[in-house]
Amino acid sequence: MASIWRSGLLSSRSDVKVNAAQYCNDRERCYVIPADVISPSGWKREKAIHMNKDPAAGYCFGISKDWTSLQRFRRLSTSVINQPKYKKAFRLNVARFQAIATPYPLTKQRVYTFGKGGSEGNKNMKYLLGGKGANLAEMSSIGLSVPPGLTITTETCQEYFENGNIFPDGLWEEVLDALKTVEETMQASLGDPAKPLLVSVRSGAAISMPGMMDTVLNLGLNDDVVKGLSSRSGERFAYDSYRRFLDMFGGVVMGIPHALFEQELENLKAARGLTLDTELTTEDLKELVSKYKEIYQRATGKAFPHDPKDQLRLSIVAVFESWNSPRAIKYRNINQIAGLKGTAVNVQAMVFGNMGNDSGTGVLFTRNPSTGEKKLYGEFLINAQGEDVVAGIRTPEEIDLMKQRLPDAYNELVENCQILEKHYKDMMDIEFTVQGNRLWMLQCRSGKRTGTGAVKIAVDLVKEGLISTPTAVNMVEPRHLDQLLHPQVSTSTTLNLLKESKFIIL
Ligand SMILES: Nc1ncnc2c1ncn2[C@@H]1O[C@H](COP(=O)(O)OP(=O)(O)OP(=O)(O)O)[C@@H](O)[C@H]1O
Ligand SMILES: [Mg+2]
Repeated sequence: MASIWRSGLLSSRSDVKVNAAQYCNDRERCYVIPADVISPSGWKREKAIHMNKDPAAGYCFGISKDWTSLQRFRRLSTSVINQPKYKKAFRLNVARFQAIATPYPLTKQRVYTFGKGGSEGNKNMKYLLGGKGANLAEMSSIGLSVPPGLTITTETCQEYFENGNIFPDGLWEEVLDALKTVEETMQASLGDPAKPLLVSVRSGAAISMPGMMDTVLNLGLNDDVVKGLSSRSGERFAYDSYRRFLDMFGGVVMGIPHALFEQELENLKAARGLTLDTELTTEDLKELVSKYKEIYQRATGKAFPHDPKDQLRLSIVAVFESWNSPRAIKYRNINQIAGLKGTAVNVQAMVFGNMGNDSGTGVLFTRNPSTGEKKLYGEFLINAQGEDVVAGIRTPEEIDLMKQRLPDAYNELVENCQILEKHYKDMMDIEFTVQGNRLWMLQCRSGKRTGTGAVKIAVDLVKEGLISTPTAVNMVEPRHLDQLLHPQVSTSTTLNLLKESKFIIL
């Protein structure tokens, strides 16, 4: 296949780190050499080595050109980098050399589908599909249950901004085309009351920016679809989803303050003498839905968009725009993230953790991120949707309790964690939902960890035969060692002090 390795961003050393994060898996080390060192006569080795002398510059450089020169580059660079004199110059562990060379079609594809057995993307395409999109594609490909969906590329987001914040020509048709594939897989359609498909619209950049950009859940509901959903899945559930959607769409897409919706909810609970949302009746939820629509009309001067395709288009734009929200910009500044193209947008079939007591949602690390202990570490909430955990509306339970509440889904989850660790050769951070006892994987990424955690995990992964010693050394970052070299208060001491209230944390 004709392919191109893009590295237009690589104009300075400070771009190197960004390239690393865009083009590589979190824990892979790769050397990418600037395009201009590939000449028809071969690779100008010295120049490449010269550029790479400074280990502080990061571990990645960029290369372009076609697939053949990329293969040649791989061969040449592996042999050069492995020479002892250069190993010293790099001062980095070069045993695991990887020039990531993802074939990349010359005609730009803006939308990639994912789903069991048929993903167009893979984990090495973070720079294009964002971390979330690339890993959703990968999890589907290796056979895990992932609700199907589509990913609009980060380059399309850039194109959107270059186009004066207007949907690029042809994009909508590509989205609808990919949506058809999702509808066929799900045997349901967006906006069809008889067989309603609901979707989430999720952001996801090449570098993880946790919670910094926007997500809309339960998209596809309107006054007709909610009736269809009621007869299939129960009226209470349908109207609960509808009021959640109105709140989220109003807030995320139209910028209506969440407090306006929240106030209406509190008023209703007060009028009924209730304390919990879950105590509201179906009739209460219906009333809330019409109140929410009024809030929408008052705040925007327009009626709530009933056509799910309009809802989808508006939400995609909102996710693109969230790339430049003040909090996302601030996060990139603080974390020195520069040079990215934008966010990818994932449109994914919804699964429901709020369908009753055989459903739920959770997040976990495959090992304890503070201590590195090999034991699932996370939280789980019965009969809830993802945002309930994040929003702190209810207090989640420890993941262990899921074993008793939903044993089948728990066993599959444990198995999936093992599969993912073996596949990614790393400790993973996972989001999942159980709908009617069936487990669905919604996200995975390499888990953030402390210094102690990093060292223990790296050593254990070597013992388990998953990685080599040089890779383990590379997994421990300078900041991890920095943390370890500082005096620390032991956890048990901290707990005792807290118990005795000897100090106040400000
Ligand atoms: N198709 C879906 N079905 C069910 N739940 C979903 C779906 N898509 C997203 N969610 C849940 O909605 C919540 C928010 O989604 P998302 O992962 O996109 O954003 P986030 O977790 O807030 O931020 P980040 O970008 O760091 O992942 C998560 O708990 C996620 O699991
Ligand atoms: Mg998430």
